[in-house]
Amino acid sequence: MIPPHKVDEILSAARIDEVIGEFVNLKKSGSSLKGLSPWTDEKSPSFMVSPAKGIFKDFSSGKGGNVVSFIMEHEHFTYPEALRWLAKRYSIEIEEEKPSPEMEEARNERESLYVINEFARDWFAEQMWESDEGQNVGLSYFKERGFTETIIKKFQLGYNPDDFQAFTDVALAKGYKDEYLLATALVKEKNDKKYDGYKGRVIFPIHNLSGRVIGFGGRTLKADKNIPKYINSPENAIYNKSASLYGLYYAKQAIAKGDVCYLVEGYTDVISFHQKGVENTVASSGTALTRGQIKLISRYTQNITLVYDGDPAGIKASLRGIDLILEEGMHVKVVLLPDGHDPDSFSKEHDGIAIKEHLEGNARDFIGFKADLLMTEAAGDPIKTNDVIHAMVDSIALIPDTILRSLYITECSRLMDVSETALISELNKVLRKNHRTKFRGDRRREEIPEAPLIENDFKKEEQFVEDTVEHQERDLLRIMVNYYDQAFQMEDPTGEDEEVEQLNILEFLIDEIQGDDISFETESYQKLFSEVAKNFNETKDFQPSTYIHHEDEVIRNLFIDLMSFPYNLDNWERKDIWVSSEEKKLRRAVIESIYAYKSKRIERMIKNNQELMKDQVLLGADPDDFLITQMKLEEVKLQINKTLGRTILH
Ligand code: UTP
Ligand code: MN
Repeated sequence: MIPPHKVDEILSAARIDEVIGEFVNLKKSGSSLKGLSPWTDEKSPSFMVSPAKGIFKDFSSGKGGNVVSFIMEHEHFTYPEALRWLAKRYSIEIEEEKPSPEMEEARNERESLYVINEFARDWFAEQMWESDEGQNVGLSYFKERGFTETIIKKFQLGYNPDDFQAFTDVALAKGYKDEYLLATALVKEKNDKKYDGYKGRVIFPIHNLSGRVIGFGGRTLKADKNIPKYINSPENAIYNKSASLYGLYYAKQAIAKGDVCYLVEGYTDVISFHQKGVENTVASSGTALTRGQIKLISRYTQNITLVYDGDPAGIKASLRGIDLILEEGMHVKVVLLPDGHDPDSFSKEHDGIAIKEHLEGNARDFIGFKADLLMTEAAGDPIKTNDVIHAMVDSIALIPDTILRSLYITECSRLMDVSETALISELNKVLRKNHRTKFRGDRRREEIPEAPLIENDFKKEEQFVEDTVEHQERDLLRIMVNYYDQAFQMEDPTGEDEEVEQLNILEFLIDEIQGDDISFETESYQKLFSEVAKNFNETKDFQPSTYIHHEDEVIRNLFIDLMSFPYNLDNWERKDIWVSSEEKKLRRAVIESIYAYKSKRIERMIKNNQELMKDQVLLGADPDDFLITQMKLEEVKLQINKTLGRTILH
């Protein structure tokens, strides 16, 4: 826990232009700074930083935020991680709250394991680069496989001498505790004798997202079939196999930038691709893909392309892992490499451009790929074909996105020569079944909603109305956020009424909205508005920084977004009306926004009232009650429209 006063100190010290300037080359542009988006490959700059407002907006990727969110996005940090990074950058000491003895001990264990791993990594590398055995055996092995010195150094590869206890001896001499050494399995113990777990193997360190070493893979150099080809670290306090991916530390930026992650099988495949410049590559290291690993990738991209060596048995075995990816709502493609090549051997024969071309040109959508694979296997046998259809529908049912699902249904219908109607009805069955499984035990839920495949059309009309209100609400909030402190009078300053109270725009809008008991229909807008109104009513003050750094992510992001697209007053410069000053334009914008919005809301209330009346009268209710409401609403509407008309004609 970082104490709140420290958070404040960090936030006030951090200058957004300085911090972002470390990652993006920024040039002055008016009162802002401009640069190339760090998240896309754009050629002309659309990444803006406003030092005055303390925010950034990347128009090519749509990302925007404050200095903390930039570090979170760019470095893929959590909120506390980003704060710590900033604290370090501005030399602010964080005295964290004192951890409990158990936490202290857990931290000690984790820290000790890191220290041992990092010592081991350095020692293995030193052995490989400096000792005769290391050079002749370890280094020359990597070089024979075509790895350059640069890539060997980058991936911190090393060698554990072929000696019973070479590493064990130095590690014990350094004073590392037995308990921790054994937990890494770099040191093993038998009959009270300790010895090297990775003896005579070349070493591949495995990194976490921040580049710390959490484990090792060690490959034997012997052809002996009786010894395991690889030894991998056991799970311990810092190594969780199912939540780490080999190479991700070196791949994450490229994955985000290329918006696709290539997934290969092994350590050497990753390194070979990276050496050829295909850096958006990671491996699940021989194990089936897990949900944790997919979640890791989804921090950087929604697109995964599996790169296979074309062995059908291997592919079939991994189909389940692929369903997991679909379930996460991500997009999966598959590329087969020709002639029994694996990524490692393929990249020995092609340069980076050719590899990328092959990957991009031959990536097949997973659904089509799976259908083809299984249909070929079924070879026309009707019973098997029926199984295939069910297997396909099962996969499609996992996709959370309705539209994508129906696209896949069309695709599958074409590939398998089955009617779409049959597939949809099958899909609906599966969806309902999955749904029921999900809600099993919840007795109140007798009614299982229909699968949402067919209801796309008749919602259109309603959605359209919804959108206009959303738009008007957004306009109001934009004016509020960007012009809050401008003076505002309801009546024309040249009018007779001298007594009108002088308000600013924020006060005016809060009065208008709260006075009429309106709440925004869009949930996030209401959240922001009520927070602003509450703070303002309590303190009579409005500080944008409160919201730019607000702890609630919804409020923070919305506020920053509203600030980044300032309200364009020129929309109010109508051809037929001469609007002289900025002040008048703003006045018109404010009044039109609030009253056009109210007018829309009132119209909807009237419509609702009419419909309610129809239903209730049929059930025997007195229509008068509804007619009275109706008249009141019409009266309000008239008032609103009068004000609106007056303003527009002024
Ligand atoms: P491979 O046998 O394809 O190894 O297994 P590789 O990395 O491509 O090595 P080379 O190129 O043949 O030398 C793929 C991955 O499966 C895991 C490793 O992570 C390996 O990289 N594996 C394989 C093991 O964990 N243990 C094994 O015994 C074999
Ligand atoms: Mn391999």
